[in-house]
Amino acid sequence: MSAHAISFAGLNFTAEESESLLDAGLRAGMDLPFSCRGGICQACLLRCTDGVVPAHAQRTLSPSLQAKAYLLACQCQASGPMSLALPDPADRLTSCLLHDSRQENDYLFLRFATARQLPCKAGQTLLLDLGEIPPLILEITAVHAEAFSIEALLHCPPETMLPDWLRHSEFGHAFDLAGPLEKNAGSDSDGRSLPEADPLLWTELEDGKKIRAILEDFYRQVYEDSRLAPFFTGSTMGRAIDKQYSFLRQLMTGEACYFGDRPRNAHHWMVISDEIYDYRQDLMQRTQLAHGLSDCQIARWSRLENHFRNDMVKDSPWPRRIGGMAIPFEGFAEETLSVGSVCDYCQQIVEPGTTVRYHLRLGKISCPACSQASPAPGSTG
Ligand code: HEM
Repeated sequence: MSAHAISFAGLNFTAEESESLLDAGLRAGMDLPFSCRGGICQACLLRCTDGVVPAHAQRTLSPSLQAKAYLLACQCQASGPMSLALPDPADRLTSCLLHDSRQENDYLFLRFATARQLPCKAGQTLLLDLGEIPPLILEITAVHAEAFSIEALLHCPPETMLPDWLRHSEFGHAFDLAGPLEKNAGSDSDGRSLPEADPLLWTELEDGKKIRAILEDFYRQVYEDSRLAPFFTGSTMGRAIDKQYSFLRQLMTGEACYFGDRPRNAHHWMVISDEIYDYRQDLMQRTQLAHGLSDCQIARWSRLENHFRNDMVKDSPWPRRIGGMAIPFEGFAEETLSVGSVCDYCQQIVEPGTTVRYHLRLGKISCPACSQASPAPGSTG
């Protein structure tokens, strides 16, 4: 029996003709995805980018995946050298069962179960391509991995074509989704792109009154939470609430009413993992639920926040970035306000048109009086 040279994601190993690519790869320490090892779950789906794919390794795959040289590594015995890659997420279909769908204004909220654990997170998108109507883009707003359950939002103004089973919320209807796909690449940019506004949500939430009540309740819990509170050392709860409130107001209404850093720069020094991001979002969603928001309203609020997920989640601090340039962590700059704000030192209102000084890392602003009182107010953070 001969052995063949296999490359996977730039790493090389050899596979005997008598063993599967999965066994050979795992033996060589490759990080290959797998689950059932019996050709059923398709967790070990790979794409052959060079070489001959044995027919046996494709026999349970759809014709479109076969045509794109996909194979199941647990069913594949190499007959020659091969180069392999992870599946393109857009090609990867997951079978799903609809649990619930509900239309509110221009949004459809969906809850469904997946036949296999789908490695995805809130903020990513999934594609529903039914062929007869244009593909529908679902934005994931919550993932309950242990229950194989996903919540998602579909923006569907009245002219959107929807299949009947979705419009009428047919419990148990089976459908396939492609993905997950990344919506906002994040980190390379200044994080200046904005999600599409949702002014109706602002109105539904009593022109912001309900939002403030939720934020007050949310931050009270954040400041008592052993995992989240350490991020807020040195920040007052009132400031966190005010900033978040005007940021959300800008996102929902589309009006320029927020003065402060965009999430990328506001969180540039914070090491926020995917897990802690989800932990915070879970706390936020539970607070929204306790204040009587509908599932769809919670998903619509989450959509606005998740737009910035990739601008915040990272495993080491980023420099602040303005106009594409990395700027120092410490120091002060001056800015003339285009919208009103509140001085972070004396808490007095600062009118639009006033030139304020702000700390480059912390983003705290000081009014002219506080700036004069001390050449570098807040330099201790
Ligand atoms: C685990 C996740 C998060 C952590 C640990 C976190 C932490 C913080 C902290 C410590 C501050 C500074 C507060 C201050 O200076 O007083 C802040 C500010 C802010 N955060 Fe977050 N945050 C998280 C997620 C989010 C999300 C999802 C959003 C919304 C998209 C957001 C939007 C903001 C905004 C707008 C500010 C104010 C920026 C400024 O001071 O100019 N944060 N955050």
